[in-house]
Amino acid sequence: GRRVTVRDLALAKARGERWPMLTAYDAMTAGVFDEAGIPVLLVGDSAGDNHLGYSNTVPVTVEELITLSAAVVRGTHRSLIVADLPFGSYQSSPRQALETGTRFLKEAGVGAVKLEGGRRVVHQVEALVQAGIPVMAHIGLTPQSVNVLGGYRVQGRGDEEAERLLADAKALEAAGAFAVVLELVPAELAQRVTELLHVPTVGIGAGAGCDAQVQVWTDMAGMTPGNAPKHAKKYADVRGVLTEAARAYAADVVSGAFPAAENSFH
Ligand code: KIV
Ligand code: NA
Repeated sequence: GRRVTVRDLALAKARGERWPMLTAYDAMTAGVFDEAGIPVLLVGDSAGDNHLGYSNTVPVTVEELITLSAAVVRGTHRSLIVADLPFGSYQSSPRQALETGTRFLKEAGVGAVKLEGGRRVVHQVEALVQAGIPVMAHIGLTPQSVNVLGGYRVQGRGDEEAERLLADAKALEAAGAFAVVLELVPAELAQRVTELLHVPTVGIGAGAGCDAQVQVWTDMAGMTPGNAPKHAKKYADVRGVLTEAARAYAADVVSGAFPAAENSFH
């Protein structure tokens, strides 16, 4: 079989079909999601806080995300792999965006890139798409701007902010983005954007009216320590299962129950 393409996603919108997307940061986990039939995997810069031990996405480097993206590509066969362009790797100019995006396609083998921002990045989106690099846009809460926004809050509240978000979405579609992520946006506004655009919207904390949904896999699977965000639903207790496995293993080593005869060579 072949990988999912951006064209498949355009056709899904035309047919009114919703689709799921998850983040992935390593080959083995990505392989699980690929086998489970998740059509699109995002090597998000949420790797910063969910994989690399940083406190947010700002410190993540191009080198780090290329390494993770290459692993996710190697671990999958069918999913479309989208990689985030890290903070500082595309904002300066369309040329900088093109140089970074080119590295992700050539060195990691991803099928598309994602970047944050509305009208302020349309020239970057145009340059990438014209060069043959599919772009997923990302508006609403843009975590790379957390230091300007002053926290992770719902965006697009009030008429003025809502109109700004709608105009950003239109501009990104006109620039050639194949999809638009809406993060932490009121459900009614996300629904309006979804109806306005011909390309799919991908919601996270943006209600059920979007064409697709994306979740950070560690939130979805219950691996994240402490409280997951309100928009997340915990579909498993992977953290609990792993903790119990580690404790049982430790107890068996201490008691001498592991390794047993069948785990030994004679
Ligand atoms: O990095 C990420 O995981 C993301 C999604 C939450 C959209 O950008
Ligand atoms: Na991201």
